[in-house]
Amino acid sequence: MARSPKIKSLAELTQLLADLRAETAPRVVHCHGVFDLLHIGHIRYLQHARALGDLLVVTLTKDEFVNKGPHRPAFTDELRLDALAALDCIDYVAINETPTATAAIRRLKPAIFAKGAEFRDRKTPELLEEEAVAAEVGAAVEFIDDVRSSSSHLLNKYLSPFDDATEQYLQNFRESYTAADVIAWLERAKAMKVLVVGEAIIDEYFACSTMGQSAKAPILATRYESHERFAGGTLAVANHLAPFCGQVDLLAMLGAQDTEEEWVRSHLARGVTGRFHYKQDSPTIVKRRYRESYFGVPLFAINFLNDNPQSASDNAKLCGMLDESLADYDAVVVADYGHQMLTPQAIQLLSDKARFLAVNTQANAANMGFHTISKYPRADYVSLAERELHLECRSRGGNLEELLLEVGKRLYATTIAVTLGKRGALCYNRRAGFHKAPSLATNVVDRVGAGDTFLAISALCAALDAPLDILSFLGNVAGAEAVAAVGNSRSLEALSFQRHIASLFK
Ligand SMILES: Nc1ncnc2c1ncn2[C@@H]1O[C@H](COP(=O)(O)OP(=O)(O)OP(=O)(O)O)[C@@H](O)[C@H]1O
Ligand SMILES: [Mg+2]
Repeated sequence: MARSPKIKSLAELTQLLADLRAETAPRVVHCHGVFDLLHIGHIRYLQHARALGDLLVVTLTKDEFVNKGPHRPAFTDELRLDALAALDCIDYVAINETPTATAAIRRLKPAIFAKGAEFRDRKTPELLEEEAVAAEVGAAVEFIDDVRSSSSHLLNKYLSPFDDATEQYLQNFRESYTAADVIAWLERAKAMKVLVVGEAIIDEYFACSTMGQSAKAPILATRYESHERFAGGTLAVANHLAPFCGQVDLLAMLGAQDTEEEWVRSHLARGVTGRFHYKQDSPTIVKRRYRESYFGVPLFAINFLNDNPQSASDNAKLCGMLDESLADYDAVVVADYGHQMLTPQAIQLLSDKARFLAVNTQANAANMGFHTISKYPRADYVSLAERELHLECRSRGGNLEELLLEVGKRLYATTIAVTLGKRGALCYNRRAGFHKAPSLATNVVDRVGAGDTFLAISALCAALDAPLDILSFLGNVAGAEAVAAVGNSRSLEALSFQRHIASLFK
């Protein structure tokens, strides 16, 4: 089917409007938005906008800039263009090449920039920028109040990406809280001073393609394609916390050899202050994973690390750093990967001196069975993956609730969570008892780092004494963000995290 002649590129539309202006000087109205699942609210708004002038042009947010939760947009920009072009009230439609409408307003120079009335309260930062640019080009900003409905609401209701049980959970959750209630807990974290402690890890991903079997040995020969490295371990935990807390300091272990300190420092998020403890005779930990890119499967992993215990002098240095600083923080989040940073003395100091201590003891190939949460005599909040809980209790298939209680009691923890991968999380505190919350992920690209992202956000909630259902919900939203990207390639970002939350309330 031929495409509508109303569909233009932004450059074509700019030229076309300039030509028209030279001839007839039409009063151009400009609307901008996502228009995912076009509905009657949009149509009325666009008709109303058209009536304000002589010509209506619409710019559309490109797929990569749609920021409404991980399962969006539901319709590609090409389909959204077709839907808009089919409306009589629209004269021209184009895809916007940048995240906000400002560049398009500058180019199109409309007489009127029209927005829906829901933007009138000016709570979205983009709108303030758009208003400033509209003023610059002499465009009036009009708010149109007509039938209010939202694509997000309709999509959630009729095309939910979740199964029935998760949809039911969300409906119940929406009855207890509004999006603003939930976001308010994150806002409270702005007053917090947090210290993150544990090993720095550099995660590397090597993409390669299969060539075949080597002629010399029965091994798979591959060809290097590309590689990427990301800040992992406590670097990732601190980066996830940075947008939400007033202050995030990091005390991370690097190797005294091949410290990679410059790389590490340059990969800390804005707002994270890094201090480092250097382990003698060791490299900074690098975990390199080889992936076959055509099938998208992992092939092999190699870790660069020295797991020998720390020397007495290193231990003394670390304990000195902890001793002088622990009491300064509202919360200390320990992501302990079991690679010998946290010695028994350091653990004792953490347990004795942190005002609020949140801990995960990560089980991995290097520490299997040697590194469980009972290394810690006390913690206020513990977040473990299911396997870590089973390892701690030496119980392969025991009842999770009983195991959770047992571990909580052993550590005198007020709150404890066990993350269950695609089944979400089970949490406990004395006030609320048990609370099970499903995963909210709709797009699972890679699971690496999911538990750390859950730990970061849920630890803040636990330190703020947020209700348990809010802690589990926010932990799972964080988990969903984490699994949607490769490894630790993306750290949490306040605005898109809030939008993700808001999208689940529509
Ligand atoms: N396969 C998945 N499908 C859906 N959601 C997932 C999946 N894996 C993880 N999640 C989300 O991430 C959260 C934490 O993940 P998980 O229980 O796998 O932690 P983990 O085993 O500690 O991960 P890691 O140590 O690899 O970072 C879960 O509670 C859930 O919200
Ligand atoms: Mg984990």
